[in-house]
Amino acid sequence: MTTGEGARGEASGKVILLGEHAVVHGVPAIAVGIPGGATACVREAIDGGSRLQVHGPPPGPSERELQDMQRGWEAIVESCGSPAPLRGVVELRIPPRAGLGSSAAMAVALCRAVHAHIGSAPDTIRLVRDASAWERVFHGNPSGIDVAAAVLGGAIRFDRASGARSLPIGCALPLCIGVSGRRAPTRTMVELFAGQLQERGARAAQVLESFGELVERAERALSDGDLEALGAAMNGNQGLLASMGVSTDALDALCEEARAVGALGAKLSGAGGGGSVIALAPGCEAEVLRVWRRRGVEAMAVTVGPGR
Ligand code: MEV
Repeated sequence: MTTGEGARGEASGKVILLGEHAVVHGVPAIAVGIPGGATACVREAIDGGSRLQVHGPPPGPSERELQDMQRGWEAIVESCGSPAPLRGVVELRIPPRAGLGSSAAMAVALCRAVHAHIGSAPDTIRLVRDASAWERVFHGNPSGIDVAAAVLGGAIRFDRASGARSLPIGCALPLCIGVSGRRAPTRTMVELFAGQLQERGARAAQVLESFGELVERAERALSDGDLEALGAAMNGNQGLLASMGVSTDALDALCEEARAVGALGAKLSGAGGGGSVIALAPGCEAEVLRVWRRRGVEAMAVTVGPGR
């Protein structure tokens, strides 16, 4: 399926290496883009208002999700400042609703195509703003990390106060990504994590600090190209996420299996409750993919950077 004739845009999906959930509460997080997450094509609508067509891997969007996407599309057309209604076609190339930033990738690809169509050259801040108009339809109060990763690609550090910046990485990151097949709405998981924080009362700040310390360690490890230290930080992050109730027995088991065949680090990535797992697996990518696929998990290997 192709997106057809017209102005084009594309954007990355993402995996969060460290810091999901805590990032909603102001702690920094690190994400890496998955190139080619979505492509889009835009042309003037000949009749009626702005309409959106969506293609992608199964499971396709429900009727309700299609309605939300149509609303998101209208919000993008308005935010980008198009003087006329537009017809948009977007093709998703990564699994949807799996914690891989599919929604943000579609939004950013569409925004780039709209700007190409109207002949404007948006900077990063403008693109983030336009794509966030779509994201708010789906997620209520997203941290913004998914959109930042979709815009910038490569490795990024993100926090709510200062936004995103690209991170230098000292060596290539051989990652395995597994899609567990179970889905939990991001909004529900974000509320669950927030509830757990609230239950901890005065200790909540300390919990968030522990997440933040691991992110700092991972950032140093990334720039030094120290994969062992990065893996250890990822494992520590998984322990913290599990203690906050956003992992599941199945995700924990996938992490343990990856480590047992040599992965230096493994954790859930994204909102948890299902969704995706990632493993840092230098030299043992094939083994990790094999053990995950044996459990019916859709799994792929990607190598990120260096060079950004
Ligand atoms: C979702 O990809 C990451 C969360 O931290 C939510 C967010 O940052 O908006 C769980």
